[in-house]
Amino acid sequence: MRQLGDLDCKGKRVLIRADLNVPLNENLEITDDNRIKQFLPTLQAVLEKGGRAILMSHLGEPSGADSAFSLKPVARRLSELLGTDVALASDCVGAEVSKLASDLKDGQVLLLENLRFHSGEKKNDPEFASQLAKLGDVFVSDAFATAHRNHASMVGVPKLFKEKSAGLLMQKELDYYYKALEKPKKPLCVVIGGSKVSSKLTALINLSSKADKLIIGGAMANTFLAAQGLQMGRSLYEPELAGKALELLGTLARRDCKVYLPVDVVVAPNLNSKGLGRAVPVQEIPADTMALDIGPATSLLFKEALHTAETIVWNGPMGAYENEDFARGTHDMCESIANTHALTVVGGGDTDAAIHHMQLAHKFSFISTAGGAFLALLEGNSLPGIKALE
Ligand code: 3PG
Repeated sequence: MRQLGDLDCKGKRVLIRADLNVPLNENLEITDDNRIKQFLPTLQAVLEKGGRAILMSHLGEPSGADSAFSLKPVARRLSELLGTDVALASDCVGAEVSKLASDLKDGQVLLLENLRFHSGEKKNDPEFASQLAKLGDVFVSDAFATAHRNHASMVGVPKLFKEKSAGLLMQKELDYYYKALEKPKKPLCVVIGGSKVSSKLTALINLSSKADKLIIGGAMANTFLAAQGLQMGRSLYEPELAGKALELLGTLARRDCKVYLPVDVVVAPNLNSKGLGRAVPVQEIPADTMALDIGPATSLLFKEALHTAETIVWNGPMGAYENEDFARGTHDMCESIANTHALTVVGGGDTDAAIHHMQLAHKFSFISTAGGAFLALLEGNSLPGIKALE
């Protein structure tokens, strides 16, 4: 795969696929601009190389051209961060957009309107891809967070370009993935949390052949504990996956991958309980409560397990961190990982949100901008948006 440094951009229309899919509140204001900030170095590099940048992205899941999903707030924020005007086209294809793209001067930036206003994007429609591709002379993909999608801008478009490269963020994401999971310095410790085993079962199976230690927290640990015969009260878990959970524990033991599960949990009557949380051993979960966070003894156990790691990969919070009463376990995990000397790579929307919420982002080697794409890599899948660049 070519790198941006090898791509000639001078005087060219550089069509860039970025992932500017940022969260908006009900007033259509951006609540987290991290993805825009992480994309800036690529954009700046293209402009410094004398390119004319034409940016494309999706935002949310609109059905048709719904103005609530317009990239207008993104254009505004991008202009502020870049310190130069970013024009927003009224669409991403069509005669007017072609004219705007061909009138662009060196160093100027044009943002196309939401790709998902057209059904051709998600269908990887060849006609839609060809219309997009005509807007640029060369192509750059920096949308790592969308690389697991077989969409027109991610797959159909790059296939139509001879001159193409990965952007700086894409390259950085892949470099860290490689360092953390393909050629990790051992021991490799993988921390998996979140709510459901079912959503991460494939990843757990794939990781069982890579990791030296596997730490399991969050509600997904409940399924493993229940499978071992513990009474989980009203906790969320997936009884239908008990067999698979036990099978996985057997595989991990045969592969000599050490597994760490919670030994205590914070329980409360429900997710919205305030001031009612208390830590109990996992053997003593009261029938009328649910486990909503890992307990302090577990935090200590996990910290000890992480101590010797040379590489740590983390995906998924340890508890229902959105409620302060159940945020302690995730906070402790942030601190424990940050206080090792290991290479630390974090991925997944919830984990990223938890770390930013706790203002601890600076403590990690790398935080991926991806949710689904990061998980797809953990599952051992190759990503269509990467393959199309090769
Ligand atoms: C993400 O937020 O994970 C990416 O932008 C991909 O978005 P999608 O899940 O809507 O395809």
